[in-house]
Amino acid sequence: MKFVEDARWFCPPARQDDPNAPVPPGCVTLVGAGPGDPELLTLRAVKALRGARLVLYDHLVSKEVLRYVAEDADLIYVGKESSHHTLPQEAIIDLMVRLARSGRSLVRLKGGDGFIFGRGGEEAQALAQAGIAFDVVPGITAAQGAGAYAGIPLTHRDHAATLVFATGHLRGESDVALDWELLARPRQTVVIYMGIGTLPIICAELQRHGLPGDTPAALVEQATLPTQRCITGTLQELPALAQQHRVRPPALIVIGGVVALQPQLMQGMRSMAHWMD
Ligand SMILES: C[S@@+](CC[C@H](N)C(=O)[O-])C[C@H]1O[C@@H](n2cnc3c(N)ncnc32)[C@H](O)[C@@H]1O
Repeated sequence: MKFVEDARWFCPPARQDDPNAPVPPGCVTLVGAGPGDPELLTLRAVKALRGARLVLYDHLVSKEVLRYVAEDADLIYVGKESSHHTLPQEAIIDLMVRLARSGRSLVRLKGGDGFIFGRGGEEAQALAQAGIAFDVVPGITAAQGAGAYAGIPLTHRDHAATLVFATGHLRGESDVALDWELLARPRQTVVIYMGIGTLPIICAELQRHGLPGDTPAALVEQATLPTQRCITGTLQELPALAQQHRVRPPALIVIGGVVALQPQLMQGMRSMAHWMD
């Protein structure tokens, strides 16, 4: 794999044949890399990575996943951590369009599923607008990975008949733009992405809108990776627990009765792992 240092100046090699011949545009494959464990890649994702000559990848794509990219392929890191964007979103889109128009096909690799809080929808829109052919390969989203690897079933007939994915990202200085009434409903599981920085606001608003403070809740950091941590408690305890355990992104907030099943399921999962050894 060849890591391209500065994506802004990346240009495809000049074509050797007739310079006046029209260049057929390349195509883009938007691939979901899953939450981290490479074994959670789909077969289609592995096939796309193995066949790619050029890959644009994000911050949340694990090194283990990148091992599936061919030795001689070009790899471009395009960011983005929440406060540190290597390339702004518009520049990433512009780069993809430019590369495809110059005849290069590429894989756009994103953590989890590109269509779940991954801005894959915006990229697909831009490609459609530019007339560039693309495919979408879904990935396992972080909530699914966290649920499976931390022993939290996201739905359960006794606890949750509704499942909501939300983002805790700030809109403006201090406003988390969420429908608190909907999120505070009983008998549902709420999974919040990008919510660690706004955790105190989230927990306070949910309680203010009627969700009991003793509702089971968890923080799952680095889900599916060997470094995964799952911290459980109640909704009202969660901000203090996050501080005490120094929870850092990437992490998810999981709220709802299903979290209470975690100790029992983890025990079963551990004995299963032992049995499989
Ligand atoms: C920009 S969103 C991308 C979500 C991604 N498209 C998906 O489907 O999982 C980034 C957020 O996803 C969550 N996330 C992604 N990977 C994670 C992981 N391995 N463990 C816990 N949370 C994760 C975190 O909340 C992180 O801040």
